[in-house]
Amino acid sequence: MAGLNSRLVEAEATSAASVARPRLSILFGTQTGNAEQVAQEAAAAARAQGFDPEVMGLDDVDMPRLAAMERVIVATSTYGEGEMPDNAHLFWQALSAPDAPRLEAVGYAVLALGDSAYDGFCQAGKLIDTRLEQLGARRLASRLDCDVDYERACAGWIASTLPQFPRPKGAEAPLAPVAAASTAPARAEWSRRNPYPACLAVSRRLSGSESAKDIRHYEFDLTGSGLTYEAGDALGVMPLNDPVLVKALLARLGAAWEQPAPSGDRPLGEALLRHYEIRTPSRELIAAIEARAGDDQLTHVLRHGDREALDAWLWGRDVLDLVDLNPALSFDLAEFLGWLRPLQHRAYSISSSPLAHEGSVHLTIAAVRWQREGRQHGGVCSTHLADRLAEGGQAGIFMSPNKAFRPPTDPAVPMIMVGPGTGIAPFRGFLHHRKAQGAEGRNWLFFGDQHQASDFIYADELAEMSRDGVLTRLDLAFSRDQAEKIYVQTRMRENGRDLFAWLEEGAHVYICGDASRMAKDVEQALHDVIVVHGGLSAEAAADYVARLRREKRYQRDVY
Ligand code: 2AM
Repeated sequence: MAGLNSRLVEAEATSAASVARPRLSILFGTQTGNAEQVAQEAAAAARAQGFDPEVMGLDDVDMPRLAAMERVIVATSTYGEGEMPDNAHLFWQALSAPDAPRLEAVGYAVLALGDSAYDGFCQAGKLIDTRLEQLGARRLASRLDCDVDYERACAGWIASTLPQFPRPKGAEAPLAPVAAASTAPARAEWSRRNPYPACLAVSRRLSGSESAKDIRHYEFDLTGSGLTYEAGDALGVMPLNDPVLVKALLARLGAAWEQPAPSGDRPLGEALLRHYEIRTPSRELIAAIEARAGDDQLTHVLRHGDREALDAWLWGRDVLDLVDLNPALSFDLAEFLGWLRPLQHRAYSISSSPLAHEGSVHLTIAAVRWQREGRQHGGVCSTHLADRLAEGGQAGIFMSPNKAFRPPTDPAVPMIMVGPGTGIAPFRGFLHHRKAQGAEGRNWLFFGDQHQASDFIYADELAEMSRDGVLTRLDLAFSRDQAEKIYVQTRMRENGRDLFAWLEEGAHVYICGDASRMAKDVEQALHDVIVVHGGLSAEAAADYVARLRREKRYQRDVY
């Protein structure tokens, strides 16, 4: 009896406590899933602090709902050069509108994720922070602007920000508040900070020898790692720098591979190989070189040009190119290393489905190479994988989930996929997923590249899937096989009637690949198709696309 009673008392106490737990809304804006993960971590910390957290994507929150929220944390990344991430477009449209409601009841704090290598660093977070304040919401803690190395700073900010949110009487924080270090919930064992040393089981060239591109297929073995993923996720890969470049840089600095690195126990050469970004010059390095090199062009673009002018000047130049601007310059080694950013992982869209390839994860990557002033240059990770990692070798990997890029949950819903070049990667995964599911939904792929003869990657697989009936339609756009350019959007327009019919039948639309031009042009083609075949005005077509976004039927994985 006593046991039963005490259980009853416990149950009552718990339910009383949960009634008093104050609601905390944690809203995320994400492109690749990082901000969503941060939101989940904030929720775990908030729960431990006695709050009742709810986690939602920004686009799932309309203005009346926002106005009714008392406690809000916005965690948002920024996409490209200062744009809102894909799942925050509708939210921002409503929040920035002249008729947005007053938000006097809202207390809030903003956590902004960004990359200081880009213009518009943390811009989405800054805009939302400012606009919330304009609308009368109360800022309860100052915004945190995080760079690519965000985890520790986020955990600290979350721990110090949660106590700023007001609580009703009786809902005080637990007596022993959770320390910053322990706010992060248990995660998968393998992470960015602790990547899994995976064996590269397959490395195979996909593009033909006459191709201008070196596109490759990789398979990493996941057996025993505990790592899992879904079609649509990305894989983080830790690269090493090219030892040839490290040696050239050491020679230029007048330093030796074997000498100790200023900050640690390992040889300098090893440190440069593994820990410093020596391909892309940091802002600090550019500024330091500008101040010392006396290079008129650099001084001009840096002082008088815009970001575009600087980007154009930087195009193809690595750290060594900057150092070599003035051969007479010499550097203090420790100071020089201070201008370099830490070497980061590169994330790639996964091109397999675990349903079809259990225990394995596939990537489809073009090796980036170029010549500059007689010296071979290369992308860090793409050449590491292509040139310096043999089958059987190991690389550090971890999963970077992307819940906003998924095949429809309903296997009967049609998919339209637009993925030229290596943009095909996630769609190979989607098609494998649907085939393994035995999904009856129709699948339409738009693919293209320069030349059919050398660049039609996965042609055999796609032919087989067409025969199997998994791939309902395949439209190809080879841009350089004829005098005029034919792009995927050309094919979309040509097939606009059917494309619109698929949309009307509930199809999901996916775009993957180049963000700077392709994704914009493809979106324009989508608008045009809706105007022409839906008989709508440009404005109504924009609403149509906005509705697709809202219904999560328009998803992009662009970079
Ligand atoms: P191009 O190089 O001949 O211009 C994959 O890179 C394919 O995308 C190539 O065929 C490339 O064509 C094409 N491409 C280049 N710019 C594009 C754009 N703005 N929209 C769609 N495809 C594009």
